[in-house]
Amino acid sequence: MEVCPCNIIGINERQELHFINEREKICLECGQCMAICSKQAITIKGLSYEENILKLPDYSMNHKDFISFLSTRRSIRNFEDTPVPDEMIDQILDALSYAPYGAAPEKVNISVVNNRDVIESALPHMEEFLDNILKWMNSPVASFMIKRKKGMETYNTIKNHLYPISKLENYKLKFGDRITRNAPAILIFHSEKDAEEHTNNSLIYATYVMLTAHSLGLGATMIGIVPAAINKVQILKDIFKIPRKSEAIMSVIIGYPKYNYRRIIKRKSHNIFRINSPKSLNVC
Ligand SMILES: Cc1cc2nc3c(=O)[nH]c(=O)nc-3n(C[C@H](O)[C@H](O)[C@H](O)COP(=O)(O)O)c2cc1C
Repeated sequence: MEVCPCNIIGINERQELHFINEREKICLECGQCMAICSKQAITIKGLSYEENILKLPDYSMNHKDFISFLSTRRSIRNFEDTPVPDEMIDQILDALSYAPYGAAPEKVNISVVNNRDVIESALPHMEEFLDNILKWMNSPVASFMIKRKKGMETYNTIKNHLYPISKLENYKLKFGDRITRNAPAILIFHSEKDAEEHTNNSLIYATYVMLTAHSLGLGATMIGIVPAAINKVQILKDIFKIPRKSEAIMSVIIGYPKYNYRRIIKRKSHNIFRINSPKSLNVC
């Protein structure tokens, strides 16, 4: 009863547990009740003890191993010319079944491309998108429209990040593939535009993909430029089988790393505000 995030489980005067009728509809189907029940007395819609609620593993990583794992992950942008086995892509996708989620995780879709030719067919359209960024940002009307329609976060990402890259022509295909970095595989997370929590869920999944790739000896990097291009260029949606009314949130390139990093990188810490006591407000 206590672990249910939606307080759906009640107890009657005979000490029998039951789902509280009018609350069942707010069930998140997280399965926590099934994972904790000593008698396997609870079953909820869509989950079974055979397929979903499994025996705990014998081994759980300790903190030292965990930090070592996290600190040795790198965003990989140089890959061996070797395809990723489909079984490894399946292992990466399987890891998503352990991820936390905000409401309606099933509304996030994943386009899985484990084929370099497909990726290469998309690159000229991505290059064109980056060319257009220059035009848009140089036009007061177009840049105003980006601000209005896409909001300040997107506008500032374009202005402070994509625009300087575009100006330097850093992404131009004549220099090689500096967008998807010759990766043999890419995963793209997308969803209907208005679906609840789809942005947060997609970013969590993308993070899980990167970490699982690292655990398999593969390299991965989140590529934000790819979804930005997809959302602006219709043909990219067709190439990646993304419904036209959906939006792409994040992409992750995957492949075998070409180089081994010799050192880890520990970055400066963020601004951390420790709030240890209630602030007494002087209200006039
Ligand atoms: C939201 C997000 C978007 C990113 N977009 C790109 C991108 O478009 N191109 C790229 O090369 N790297 C991209 N990255 C990778 C970061 O730049 C990378 O994490 C950074 O270089 C730090 O390196 P590390 O991951 O090895 O610590 C992105 C990362 C995040 C989290």
